[in-house]
Amino acid sequence: MVTGSWLTVKEQMPEVHATRLAERGDTAFTFDFTGFGESGGDARYARRERRGRVLEGDGLMDEDRVALVTGANRGLGMECARQLSALGFTVLLAARNRQRAHEAARAIGSPRVHAVVLDVTSETDVARCGDLIRRDHLRRLDVLINNAAIHYDTGQTVLTADLHVVAEALATNLIGAWRVAQMAAGLMRPRRHGRIVNVSSGAGALASLDRHTPAYRASKVALNGLTLMLADELRESGILVNAVCPGWVETDMGGPGGRPVQDGARSILWAALLRDDGPTGGFFRDGRSIAW
Ligand SMILES: NC(=O)c1ccc[n+]([C@@H]2O[C@H](COP(=O)([O-])OP(=O)(O)OC[C@H]3O[C@@H](n4cnc5c(N)ncnc54)[C@H](OP(=O)(O)O)[C@@H]3O)[C@@H](O)[C@H]2O)c1
Repeated sequence: MVTGSWLTVKEQMPEVHATRLAERGDTAFTFDFTGFGESGGDARYARRERRGRVLEGDGLMDEDRVALVTGANRGLGMECARQLSALGFTVLLAARNRQRAHEAARAIGSPRVHAVVLDVTSETDVARCGDLIRRDHLRRLDVLINNAAIHYDTGQTVLTADLHVVAEALATNLIGAWRVAQMAAGLMRPRRHGRIVNVSSGAGALASLDRHTPAYRASKVALNGLTLMLADELRESGILVNAVCPGWVETDMGGPGGRPVQDGARSILWAALLRDDGPTGGFFRDGRSIAW
């Protein structure tokens, strides 16, 4: 069923327009999208809703869909969990601290949101999360939002960087995401369906690299590389893997002055809600391709 909240989101969206996002080798694909505030979204969903049809085939509103969001006790992760639950997903709201996980799930207040303890640097936690999905959710994982991250190290430059801080950033932002993606792909592959969204940053775009925030930038450059490698291995598997920059967002990490967390989360969810013929191995912000 189409939920009220989804319609509300879509009703706020302005003009539909189509954009060719990418051409890759001999496989060209186009992807339509409509407004994320000013641009973005998927026009095909919007058109179907306007005709009042129940969504079929892509099953976007299938209430059995399961999504895992890491680092979801606050900020963008929590907002992604909130929006996914409003779309009808069963959401595993993952946080490294048990109490914070439960508080965030309670604050969202949906029976579809379940708190999960998951430190992405812990092999044990990630394996336990996989076991939980196999046991309690019929081995079903449709969406992974690899959101957890640390160390926006504004006080460092590349030459002054404490390499322990760099190593910690890599352990969470790159290897943590990698570890969770391996677990997720193991669940998604047999069902030949899945969306992996690596929450990256324009700070990790090669074109904009400078000396500042070196631990963070290095980790996001590497996460973008991981995105391409995963997309390559999972091509033809029904699993789409993309990196998304949410833009500058007002969170604990982003600080004051950024855009609302709702807008940043929608930028991320665009890649979680892609149709089967959507792009893979891309870098996006608000549904638009951006330079690596
Ligand atoms: N905000 C922005 O302007 C902006 C811009 C571009 C990209 N991003 C990206 O967006 C994502 C979310 O950022 P945010 O602004 O929402 O940051 P945030 O408010 O600092 O939240 C980060 C989340 O990651 C969690 N986390 C950290 N280490 C973890 C670990 N080892 N295991 C599990 N969870 C862990 C934190 O949990 P604790 O509460 O336990 O610390 C917290 O829930 C990040 O990937 C970030 O790089 C943000």
